[in-house]
Amino acid sequence: MPNPFHDSIRAVEWSNGALKLLDQRALPRQREHLVIEDTAGTAQAIKDMVVRGAPAIGITAAYGVVLAARACYARSPATWKQDIETDLELLARSRPTAVNLFWALERMRRHAATLGGDPYPALLAEAQRIHEEDIAANRRMGEMGAELIQSPGAVLTHCNTGSLATGGYGTALGVIRAAYAAGRVSQVFADETRPWLQGARLTAWELVEDRIPVTLLCEGAAAHLLKQGGVRWVIVGADRIAANGDTANKIGTYSLAILARHHGVKFMVVAPTSTVDMTLAGGDQIPIEIRADSEVLTHAGHPVAAQGAQAWNPAFDVAPAELIDAIVTERGVILSPTPEKMAVMMGRQD
Ligand code: MRU
Repeated sequence: MPNPFHDSIRAVEWSNGALKLLDQRALPRQREHLVIEDTAGTAQAIKDMVVRGAPAIGITAAYGVVLAARACYARSPATWKQDIETDLELLARSRPTAVNLFWALERMRRHAATLGGDPYPALLAEAQRIHEEDIAANRRMGEMGAELIQSPGAVLTHCNTGSLATGGYGTALGVIRAAYAAGRVSQVFADETRPWLQGARLTAWELVEDRIPVTLLCEGAAAHLLKQGGVRWVIVGADRIAANGDTANKIGTYSLAILARHHGVKFMVVAPTSTVDMTLAGGDQIPIEIRADSEVLTHAGHPVAAQGAQAWNPAFDVAPAELIDAIVTERGVILSPTPEKMAVMMGRQD
């Protein structure tokens, strides 16, 4: 039976007392899973992009805390709360930009502080709540974001923001799923997203799996596409949204925001409130991860650049709030974000 949500993939699972990750480095060639039983393995998997996407990183880290607490309690029931701090630091060092990582670690730390006795069942339940709340937030954002798309047309997305990047269903891709199911999207364009090719390898894979037709383009083709008309919305996710609405997302998002404004195309950011960092006044304060130059100079282990060339590889950039038409979170939609509107939205209860 067709899934009414066009949603069949899960990247992060808890299975038989261990963390099970779909290895996103191998997609779309192979569907392989890694089973991880310790914190060091969890941190390494985040660093190496086995799992990626801001909400999925946060959920993975939450399960990493469960693994840490289980091991620390088994070693020393009296001191496990102090002992897991080293593991929390290890997880926090895995990737710097997606604030969902730090949000999830803090939530798990707060929950751990309330516990007596064996922490494993209660921390596992908390990690599973984080996971389930993320999927529920995505479904809600999907509905609200889809309603913003008033006249059916094409949409353009960047990177991968779907089930693979979240607990399930997706943020920007959740909106696209919901809008497609409602007949509001005639065509989905996806940037291939150099250098990791999240668009070509992951977004295209999960849309094809879920029977949503997708057309790929090199991100260099986006200006030409938007100039032709037909694309109504550019829809992206976020790794961190500052208190004024400035949004860090996959490198290339800033260019898309400029292109969209230039061509009169609307620009939507879709992210749960766990991606909002109200401690940072503006996007200039968001730490931007710089990854290895080998990711630009090689592809699948083979050199693609002239020997001796150097590379610069920022993984994210910041789209300023004034270029964003709508921010969609599970707590509501903000049109033309300002610090005041962000504060009101973040003050709302779920
Ligand atoms: O480097 P990645 O693949 O982790 O980057 C992911 C993105 O930039 C996504 O757009 C963002 O995390 C939102 S995912 C719902």
